[in-house]
Order: sequence, then C-alpha cells, then structure tokens
Amino acid sequence: YMVDKGNYRHFMEKEIYEQPEVVSHTLANYLDFANSKVKEFSLPFDFAKLDRLYVSACGTAYLAGLVGKYWIERYARLPVDIDIASEFRYRELPITKNSAALFISQSGETADTLASLRYCRSEGLPIGAIVNVRESTIARESDAVFPTLAGPEIGVASTKAFTCQLSVLAALAVRAAVARGTVDAAQEAQLVRELSEAPGLAHQVLKLASQIERLARDLSQYKHVLYLGRDTNFPLAMEGALKLKEISYIHAEGYAAGELKHGPIALIDEKMPVIVIAPHDRIFEKTVSNMQEVAARGGKIILITDAKGAAESTVDTLATIVVPDVPEIISPIIYALPIQLLAYYTAVFIGTDVDQPRNLAKSVTVE
Ligand code: G6P
Repeated sequence: YMVDKGNYRHFMEKEIYEQPEVVSHTLANYLDFANSKVKEFSLPFDFAKLDRLYVSACGTAYLAGLVGKYWIERYARLPVDIDIASEFRYRELPITKNSAALFISQSGETADTLASLRYCRSEGLPIGAIVNVRESTIARESDAVFPTLAGPEIGVASTKAFTCQLSVLAALAVRAAVARGTVDAAQEAQLVRELSEAPGLAHQVLKLASQIERLARDLSQYKHVLYLGRDTNFPLAMEGALKLKEISYIHAEGYAAGELKHGPIALIDEKMPVIVIAPHDRIFEKTVSNMQEVAARGGKIILITDAKGAAESTVDTLATIVVPDVPEIISPIIYALPIQLLAYYTAVFIGTDVDQPRNLAKSVTVE
C-alpha cells in the first residue's frame, strides 16, 4: 500500500485533515442515514441481555473507550468497565455473568490489548474488537470486528483512528440503546441525524487551523500545560495532554475539571497555561467556576468552547477557540480536532520529529 504525504508537511497533518472523510465513511458503515436508523451489523452478543461490558485498550484507543463508556452508560444504561489493557490483564477482576468484552486498537497488534483479549477468551466471554487494521491479530481472534475505516495511519500519534474509534463507539452506543429499549425510534432517528452532522462540522472546525497555529506559537514557549474537561471532555482533556506530550515533549496533564481542587491547583501560576475544553452544556457553569479558580491564581486560560460558552464565560482568557455549536453526542469527535491541531502546530514550532517522536512506537507489540 503506497501512502504519501501529498501536499502536507507531515503525515500527522494529512491525517488530521482526512478526518471529515474517514469519519463519514466509518459512520456510514454502521448507520443508515437514509432511514435515520442504526444498521443491523452482526454482534457477538445481544446487548439486551448484557449486564456489563468490559472495554480495554491502550493509549489513545483507551481514551476513545473512556468516551465510549460515557455514551454507552448514558444512552443504553449498560454498565461499562473500562481499563488500560496492561492493568486489565493482571488485576484479577471478577468477571460478571452476562457480560462481554470489547477491545479497541488501531494496529490490532498491541501486546497488552491482545493479552487482555486472550484472558477474556479463556473466561469464555464473547469478544468484539474495534480495529483499523483488518488483517491484524486482534481482528482475527475476535468474534466480531467493528472496523474503523480510517485508512492507514502513519503518524505515530493517533488522530484519525481516534475519531473513527469514537464514531464506531457512538454507533455501538445507539445500537445498544435501541436493543435495550432505552431510546425510542424517534430518539434513535434524532441521534443518527446528529451523528450525520459530524463530518460537516469537523470540516468547519479545520478552518480554525490558522488561529490555532498562532496560538501554538505562544504555547510552544511553556514547559507545562494542564488540560481540563468534564464529562466526555474529561477523556478529551487527557487526549489533548497525551497528544501534546507525545509530539512536542511539553509536559502536559489532563484532569477532570472537578479534580482541579484536589491537587493540580497547587501548580497553577502564570507559567502553566490551562486549556479548558468546555462546550456550553448542562455542566458548563461548573467549569466556569473552575476557570475562575485558575484565573484567581494568575493562571492563563485557553478556552475551547462554542459561541454561547464564549459569551457566557466570565473569565479573561489568553485565547478562546470558538467551535461551531454541535449536538451533544458528536461533541467529542468535533472537539478532538482543535486539540490535535494545537499539539501538531506546537510541535512544528518546537521543531520535533512530529511523525516519529522520540522513544515512541506506532504499535507496541512487546510488553
Ligand atoms: C502506541 C501509539 C499510540 C496508540 C497506542 C495503542 O502507544 O503510539 O498512538 O494509541 O499505541 O495502539 P493501538 O494500535 O492498540 O491502538
């Protein structure tokens, strides 16, 4: 398979820009947009009969799984256990009856994820896997494969595979909700219509690139960055921090905004910018008070929000990135793009090897 960078400077940049298209392909694999329904793709278990779903993965795929937990629990009322695969495989958890396992892996070859899969196999659980590489070991050893149609991902830092993993997880959450009767046909149609807006909105967000590039010049001057978010933006805060540390080598932490008081607030000063991911949702006000706590300690805030959030946040920010209004279910897919762009341009300013960052591997096939 020949892959080149085309007119892009790095594979990572190309892969960020491919997202409207690959997210669209991936969603269309699972959702019937013409009839506003989730498709009847084959499942290795019956969602209606499950009492628990075990999800495990590593790195960015793990953070996709964490978003998936919020979605599946919220929409389908199905309890989800999410683990980092290297923890799952050794922590001797009691496996409950009527449960199933779901693994998420771009490469399908990550050693800890594969070992977790084999552990669940030995426990007799039905196994599904969200993978990007169809011919991979994890795909082969699963009872059902839910492919991400991201195409080959070359940049070591995962971007398009992440948003495609989110797309599959959102579709699975809707499928689970329908099966479990926690959404009716009208709500299903509404969710599917909302998901259909993701590619167009992702395309719009990419137009913020030049603003984000200017901001990245400032960000590249710092040694430490804190990301905050609540709800599905909590995993995104961790993903933003992960992307930044992976490719720019700036020390970054992602925290649930509500945890600010329980530790990271001690670090806040003018040398540690705080990037807050906060669309104007039902808990926006809570995040505003976290921003006030940061501002009161001289912290500099970069706020990623929508127009309403920008209008209603009462704090001074170093910069505000205004993302289009998005339906709740696609918010993590859309907000992933500005954090990827911010990490990308920051690394470009610092001059690191963006596609091949030091010490990292695209696929970690040894423990
Ligand atoms: C490595 C890569 C990450 C990736 C993780 C899991 O750390 O650098 O980008 O998220 O492995 O890889 P997988 O192929 O299982 O998704």
